[in-house]
Amino acid sequence: MRLAIVGYGKMGQAAAALATGRGHIIHTVVVSKDNAGGRGLTRERLAGADVAIEFTRPEAAVSNLERLIELGIPTVTGTTGWTGALPRITALVEARKGALLHAANFSVGVHLFLRGARELARNFSGRPEFVASIREEHHAAKLDAPSGTALVLQQQLGDSDASRSFPISSVRAGTVPGTHTLTYEGPHETVSLSHVARDREAFAGGALRAAEWLPGKTGVFTFEHLLFGETA
Ligand SMILES: NC(=O)c1ccc[n+]([C@@H]2O[C@H](COP(=O)([O-])OP(=O)(O)OC[C@H]3O[C@@H](n4cnc5c(N)ncnc54)[C@H](OP(=O)(O)O)[C@@H]3O)[C@@H](O)[C@H]2O)c1
Repeated sequence: MRLAIVGYGKMGQAAAALATGRGHIIHTVVVSKDNAGGRGLTRERLAGADVAIEFTRPEAAVSNLERLIELGIPTVTGTTGWTGALPRITALVEARKGALLHAANFSVGVHLFLRGARELARNFSGRPEFVASIREEHHAAKLDAPSGTALVLQQQLGDSDASRSFPISSVRAGTVPGTHTLTYEGPHETVSLSHVARDREAFAGGALRAAEWLPGKTGVFTFEHLLFGETA
Protein backbone atom coordinates (compact mmCIF):
# COMPACT_ATOMS: atom_id res chain seq x y z
CA MET A 1 0.00 0.00 0.00
CA ARG A 2 1.00 3.60 -0.53
CA LEU A 3 0.63 5.54 2.69
CA ALA A 4 0.38 9.24 3.39
CA ILE A 5 1.73 9.98 6.86
CA VAL A 6 0.17 13.19 8.22
CA GLY A 7 2.09 14.36 11.31
CA TYR A 8 5.60 13.11 11.84
CA GLY A 9 5.96 13.20 15.61
CA LYS A 10 6.37 10.18 17.87
CA MET A 11 3.40 8.27 16.47
CA GLY A 12 3.80 9.28 12.81
CA GLN A 13 7.40 8.09 12.90
CA ALA A 14 6.52 4.85 14.68
CA ALA A 15 3.75 4.09 12.14
CA ALA A 16 6.00 4.93 9.16
CA ALA A 17 8.84 2.74 10.45
CA LEU A 18 6.52 -0.19 11.00
CA ALA A 19 4.86 0.28 7.61
CA THR A 20 8.19 0.29 5.79
CA GLY A 21 9.19 -2.85 7.67
CA ARG A 22 6.02 -4.53 6.42
CA GLY A 23 6.73 -3.61 2.80
CA HIS A 24 4.39 -0.64 2.43
CA ILE A 25 5.48 2.50 0.60
CA ILE A 26 5.54 5.89 2.29
CA HIS A 27 3.98 7.99 -0.46
CA THR A 28 4.29 11.31 1.35
CA VAL A 29 5.00 12.66 4.83
CA VAL A 30 3.15 15.85 5.74
CA VAL A 31 4.71 17.84 8.58
CA SER A 32 3.30 20.83 10.41
CA LYS A 33 5.43 23.58 8.86
CA ASP A 34 3.97 23.07 5.37
CA ASN A 35 0.45 22.21 6.51
CA ALA A 36 -1.11 25.17 8.35
CA GLY A 37 -4.88 24.69 8.43
CA GLY A 38 -4.52 21.48 6.39
CA ARG A 39 -3.46 23.48 3.33
CA GLY A 40 -0.51 21.16 2.64
CA LEU A 41 -2.95 18.34 1.91
CA THR A 42 -3.37 19.05 -1.79
CA ARG A 43 -4.79 16.85 -4.53
CA GLU A 44 -1.37 16.73 -6.21
CA ARG A 45 0.40 15.68 -3.04
CA LEU A 46 -2.10 12.97 -2.13
CA ALA A 47 -2.62 11.62 -5.67
CA GLY A 48 -1.75 7.93 -5.64
CA ALA A 49 -2.00 7.46 -1.86
CA ASP A 50 -4.19 4.49 -0.88
CA VAL A 51 -4.73 5.60 2.71
CA ALA A 52 -3.61 8.29 5.16
CA ILE A 53 -2.50 7.84 8.76
CA GLU A 54 -3.02 11.01 10.78
CA PHE A 55 -1.36 11.56 14.17
CA THR A 56 -1.08 15.30 14.85
CA ARG A 57 -2.54 17.56 17.50
CA PRO A 58 -6.12 18.17 18.63
CA GLU A 59 -6.26 21.64 17.05
CA ALA A 60 -4.89 20.39 13.69
CA ALA A 61 -6.81 17.15 13.30
CA VAL A 62 -10.19 18.50 12.20
CA SER A 63 -8.91 20.52 9.24
CA ASN A 64 -6.65 17.62 8.25
CA LEU A 65 -9.56 15.21 8.32
CA GLU A 66 -11.76 17.58 6.34
CA ARG A 67 -9.15 17.93 3.61
CA LEU A 68 -8.38 14.22 3.43
CA ILE A 69 -12.06 13.28 3.24
CA GLU A 70 -12.74 15.93 0.60
CA LEU A 71 -9.87 14.46 -1.43
CA GLY A 72 -11.40 10.98 -1.12
CA ILE A 73 -8.48 9.48 0.84
CA PRO A 74 -9.45 6.73 3.30
CA THR A 75 -8.11 8.07 6.60
CA VAL A 76 -7.05 6.50 9.87
CA THR A 77 -6.63 8.97 12.71
CA GLY A 78 -5.35 8.36 16.19
CA THR A 79 -5.20 12.00 17.25
CA THR A 80 -7.09 12.57 20.47
CA GLY A 81 -8.97 15.58 21.80
CA TRP A 82 -10.98 16.54 18.70
CA THR A 83 -14.08 14.30 18.92
CA GLY A 84 -16.36 17.25 19.72
CA ALA A 85 -16.24 17.74 15.94
CA LEU A 86 -17.09 14.08 15.22
CA PRO A 87 -20.73 14.78 14.19
CA ARG A 88 -19.55 17.33 11.61
CA ILE A 89 -16.82 15.02 10.32
CA THR A 90 -19.26 12.10 10.17
CA ALA A 91 -21.66 14.20 8.08
CA LEU A 92 -18.83 15.05 5.70
CA VAL A 93 -17.76 11.40 5.39
CA GLU A 94 -21.35 10.43 4.61
CA ALA A 95 -21.82 13.24 2.10
CA ARG A 96 -18.59 12.31 0.29
CA LYS A 97 -19.04 8.54 0.69
CA GLY A 98 -15.61 8.53 2.27
CA ALA A 99 -13.95 6.31 4.85
CA LEU A 100 -12.64 7.27 8.27
CA LEU A 101 -11.45 5.11 11.13
CA HIS A 102 -10.76 6.94 14.38
CA ALA A 103 -9.57 5.57 17.69
CA ALA A 104 -8.28 7.20 20.85
CA ASN A 105 -6.25 4.06 21.35
CA PHE A 106 -4.98 1.61 18.74
CA SER A 107 -3.68 -1.06 21.09
CA VAL A 108 -5.48 -4.39 20.97
CA GLY A 109 -4.89 -4.88 24.69
CA VAL A 110 -6.69 -1.67 25.63
CA HIS A 111 -9.84 -2.77 23.84
CA LEU A 112 -9.81 -6.10 25.68
CA PHE A 113 -9.14 -4.13 28.89
CA LEU A 114 -12.23 -1.98 28.14
CA ARG A 115 -14.34 -5.11 27.80
CA GLY A 116 -12.97 -6.43 31.10
CA ALA A 117 -13.59 -3.07 32.76
CA ARG A 118 -17.23 -3.04 31.62
CA GLU A 119 -17.69 -6.52 33.05
CA LEU A 120 -16.08 -5.46 36.33
CA ALA A 121 -18.38 -2.42 36.49
CA ARG A 122 -21.46 -4.61 36.04
CA ASN A 123 -20.25 -6.86 38.88
CA PHE A 124 -19.59 -3.96 41.25
CA SER A 125 -22.95 -2.37 40.49
CA GLY A 126 -25.09 -2.26 43.65
CA ARG A 127 -22.06 -2.40 46.00
CA PRO A 128 -21.80 1.20 47.24
CA GLU A 129 -19.16 0.29 49.84
CA PHE A 130 -16.65 0.24 46.97
CA VAL A 131 -15.47 3.56 45.53
CA ALA A 132 -14.39 3.56 41.88
CA SER A 133 -11.70 5.67 40.25
CA ILE A 134 -9.67 5.85 37.04
CA ARG A 135 -6.01 6.83 36.98
CA GLU A 136 -4.11 7.48 33.77
CA GLU A 137 -0.40 8.22 33.34
CA HIS A 138 1.34 9.50 30.21
CA HIS A 139 4.65 11.04 29.21
CA ALA A 140 5.22 14.70 30.05
CA ALA A 141 4.74 15.87 26.42
CA LYS A 142 1.15 14.62 26.12
CA LEU A 143 -1.03 17.68 25.54
CA ASP A 144 -4.52 16.55 26.46
CA ALA A 145 -5.72 15.44 29.88
CA PRO A 146 -7.62 13.32 30.66
CA SER A 147 -6.47 11.00 27.90
CA GLY A 148 -8.93 10.09 25.16
CA THR A 149 -8.79 6.49 26.38
CA ALA A 150 -9.63 7.49 29.97
CA LEU A 151 -12.67 9.40 28.68
CA VAL A 152 -13.81 6.39 26.64
CA LEU A 153 -13.31 4.16 29.71
CA GLN A 154 -15.28 6.58 31.89
CA GLN A 155 -18.16 6.75 29.42
CA GLN A 156 -18.32 2.96 28.99
CA LEU A 157 -18.18 2.38 32.76
CA GLY A 158 -20.98 4.91 33.24
CA ASP A 159 -23.06 3.02 30.67
CA SER A 160 -22.40 -0.24 32.55
CA ASP A 161 -23.14 1.15 36.03
CA ALA A 162 -25.01 4.46 36.21
CA SER A 163 -25.23 4.29 40.01
CA ARG A 164 -21.75 5.70 40.66
CA SER A 165 -19.24 8.13 39.20
CA PHE A 166 -15.82 7.25 37.82
CA PRO A 167 -13.55 10.24 38.50
CA ILE A 168 -10.32 10.43 36.52
CA SER A 169 -6.93 11.53 37.82
CA SER A 170 -4.18 12.25 35.29
CA VAL A 171 -0.42 12.17 35.72
CA ARG A 172 1.98 13.67 33.14
CA ALA A 173 5.56 12.67 33.81
CA GLY A 174 8.59 11.02 32.27
CA THR A 175 8.29 8.90 29.14
CA VAL A 176 5.43 6.50 29.98
CA PRO A 177 3.66 5.67 26.65
CA GLY A 178 0.32 5.14 28.44
CA THR A 179 -1.06 3.43 31.57
CA HIS A 180 -4.73 3.22 32.56
CA THR A 181 -5.98 1.73 35.82
CA LEU A 182 -9.53 1.19 37.06
CA THR A 183 -9.67 0.77 40.83
CA TYR A 184 -12.45 -0.21 43.22
CA GLU A 185 -11.53 0.53 46.79
CA GLY A 186 -13.57 -1.09 49.54
CA PRO A 187 -13.24 -0.59 53.30
CA HIS A 188 -10.70 -3.40 53.60
CA GLU A 189 -9.70 -4.43 50.08
CA THR A 190 -8.82 -3.08 46.65
CA VAL A 191 -9.53 -4.45 43.19
CA SER A 192 -7.75 -2.96 40.20
CA LEU A 193 -7.44 -3.63 36.51
CA SER A 194 -4.63 -2.04 34.49
CA HIS A 195 -3.45 -1.71 30.95
CA VAL A 196 0.18 -0.72 30.46
CA ALA A 197 1.51 0.14 27.00
CA ARG A 198 5.22 -0.65 27.17
CA ASP A 199 6.12 0.95 23.84
CA ARG A 200 4.51 2.88 20.97
CA GLU A 201 4.47 -0.13 18.70
CA ALA A 202 1.34 -1.20 20.58
CA PHE A 203 -0.41 1.80 18.98
CA ALA A 204 1.49 2.00 15.69
CA GLY A 205 0.75 -1.65 14.93
CA GLY A 206 -2.98 -1.11 15.43
CA ALA A 207 -3.01 2.03 13.30
CA LEU A 208 -1.26 0.19 10.51
CA ARG A 209 -3.67 -2.70 10.80
CA ALA A 210 -6.51 -0.17 10.47
CA ALA A 211 -4.83 1.37 7.40
CA GLU A 212 -4.67 -2.06 5.79
CA TRP A 213 -8.33 -2.74 6.64
CA LEU A 214 -10.02 0.56 5.69
CA PRO A 215 -9.51 1.05 1.91
CA GLY A 216 -12.57 -0.09 -0.05
CA LYS A 217 -14.99 0.59 2.84
CA THR A 218 -17.28 3.59 3.25
CA GLY A 219 -18.38 5.14 6.51
CA VAL A 220 -17.04 6.04 9.92
CA PHE A 221 -15.47 3.24 11.91
CA THR A 222 -13.66 2.74 15.18
CA PHE A 223 -10.97 0.23 16.01
CA GLU A 224 -13.66 -1.87 17.70
CA HIS A 225 -15.33 -2.43 14.33
CA LEU A 226 -12.07 -3.89 13.07
CA LEU A 227 -11.42 -5.98 16.18
CA PHE A 228 -14.89 -7.21 17.05
CA GLY A 229 -17.09 -6.58 14.01
CA GLU A 230 -20.28 -4.55 13.86
CA THR A 231 -21.48 -5.79 17.25
CA ALA A 232 -18.60 -4.09 19.09
N1 LIG B 1 -4.74 6.47 19.10
C1 LIG B 1 -3.61 6.04 19.70
O1 LIG B 1 -3.38 4.84 19.88
C2 LIG B 1 -2.61 7.06 20.16
C3 LIG B 1 -1.38 6.68 20.69
C4 LIG B 1 -0.45 7.68 21.01
C5 LIG B 1 -0.79 9.02 20.82
N2 LIG B 1 -2.01 9.34 20.34
C6 LIG B 1 -2.40 10.72 20.03
O2 LIG B 1 -1.85 11.01 18.74
C7 LIG B 1 -1.51 12.40 18.67
C8 LIG B 1 -0.02 12.52 18.31
O3 LIG B 1 0.74 11.92 19.33
P1 LIG B 1 2.33 11.93 19.24
O4 LIG B 1 2.78 11.22 20.47
O5 LIG B 1 2.79 11.49 17.91
O6 LIG B 1 2.59 13.51 19.42
P2 LIG B 1 3.84 14.37 18.91
O7 LIG B 1 5.09 13.58 19.06
O8 LIG B 1 3.73 15.69 19.60
O9 LIG B 1 3.57 14.55 17.35
C9 LIG B 1 2.58 15.36 16.83
C10 LIG B 1 3.10 15.83 15.50
O10 LIG B 1 2.07 16.46 14.76
C11 LIG B 1 2.66 17.52 14.06
N3 LIG B 1 1.64 18.44 13.59
C12 LIG B 1 0.97 19.40 14.26
N4 LIG B 1 0.10 20.02 13.45
C13 LIG B 1 0.25 19.46 12.22
C14 LIG B 1 -0.35 19.67 10.96
N5 LIG B 1 -1.30 20.61 10.76
N6 LIG B 1 0.05 18.89 9.93
C15 LIG B 1 1.01 17.96 10.07
N7 LIG B 1 1.62 17.73 11.24
C16 LIG B 1 1.24 18.45 12.31
C17 LIG B 1 3.63 18.13 15.06
O11 LIG B 1 4.59 18.92 14.42
P3 LIG B 1 5.23 20.19 15.22
O12 LIG B 1 5.89 19.63 16.43
O13 LIG B 1 6.14 20.77 14.20
O14 LIG B 1 4.06 21.08 15.55
C18 LIG B 1 4.24 16.87 15.64
O15 LIG B 1 5.35 16.41 14.88
C19 LIG B 1 -1.89 13.00 20.02
O16 LIG B 1 -3.18 13.52 19.92
C20 LIG B 1 -1.89 11.79 20.96
O17 LIG B 1 -2.75 11.95 22.06
C21 LIG B 1 -2.92 8.40 20.01
